[in-house]
Amino acid sequence: MNSFRLRPEAGIALAYLAFGALWILFSDQIVASLALSTATIMQLQTYKGWLFVSASALLIFGLLRHAFSQERLAQERLLSKQAQLAGEIAERLHAEELLRRVSLRLAEAQESERLALSKELHDQVGQSLTALGINLNLIQAEIGPSISPSLRAHFSSASELLQEITDKIRDIMGELHPPVLQNYGLAAALRWLAERIQRQTGLQVEVQGEIIEPRLPMVTAISLFRIAREALNNVIKHAQASRAWVRVEATPEQVILCIQDDGQGFDPAITQNNQNSQWGLATMRERVELLHGSMKIESAPGEGTTIIVRVPRAL
Ligand SMILES: Nc1ncnc2c1ncn2[C@@H]1O[C@H](COP(=O)(O)OP(=O)(O)OP(=O)(O)O)[C@@H](O)[C@H]1O
Ligand SMILES: [Mg+2]
Repeated sequence: MNSFRLRPEAGIALAYLAFGALWILFSDQIVASLALSTATIMQLQTYKGWLFVSASALLIFGLLRHAFSQERLAQERLLSKQAQLAGEIAERLHAEELLRRVSLRLAEAQESERLALSKELHDQVGQSLTALGINLNLIQAEIGPSISPSLRAHFSSASELLQEITDKIRDIMGELHPPVLQNYGLAAALRWLAERIQRQTGLQVEVQGEIIEPRLPMVTAISLFRIAREALNNVIKHAQASRAWVRVEATPEQVILCIQDDGQGFDPAITQNNQNSQWGLATMRERVELLHGSMKIESAPGEGTTIIVRVPRAL
């Protein structure tokens, strides 16, 4: 049942009305019953009026004071809540920045591990393979032209196997750390990647970009390289493109990497909501966020794809 409830301010107004009516009624009766002179009655009426007005003023003052103090209290509570919230946000931002820094350090550590492993492979395995190749050639030369056809076949299959292993080791080294990045910078490493892709898949990749001076921090350069590599992998896997372009340029504040293809394109909104195990674009975004950068995908079915990544030059 909906019960009727009087609001407090209406209750106070009604009580005041009742008190005022009773005051006027009874005080007039009392004054009349005293049988005083007209002048005294007039005097009493004036006092009565003053008394009423003073009591009313006191009542209004009390009520307003209460109402305003409630409002002030509410405002103070709101302000302290706001300050608390601002503190929590600042704390959270600080924690996020700390986490980003730690992740950045981890990424740097991982990259230097990969670089060390790649160098180790080059120095240990690579040099042994080269020595093995020289030895094979020496043995073959020692035996000379009298070599039997079956031994010749064994030698040539051993040489082919050796070449295969050398190529695989070189590929693994390239995966671990692009060979030219350390010495010649990002644009050179992207050219190396483009040539490799062109050789392996036939996709024409054109790279534009100069040496960036002063050098980018290694983690920035390697992250941009890995982003470009995943974007080009996607071009190979999904775009059915005949050409791709990679452009890298630097301003005093930021580096801009752009990967474009003339393939079939896609709807980025659908991909963003996709829950399937597609890691490529998500990993690219994560790398960009780690560097405090931004990534934009411009694509639509039938219109090719352009990915633009901007990251600050300083970490
Ligand atoms: N250049 C492109 N051209 C056409 N479609 C693309 C292109 N790049 C991405 N896509 C679309 O976006 C989807 C998501 O790409 P993403 O790299 O995240 O995942 P994936 O390549 O399918 O899988 P993963 O990278 O995990 O092996 C792809 O499945 C594809 O449909
Ligand atoms: Mg992918």
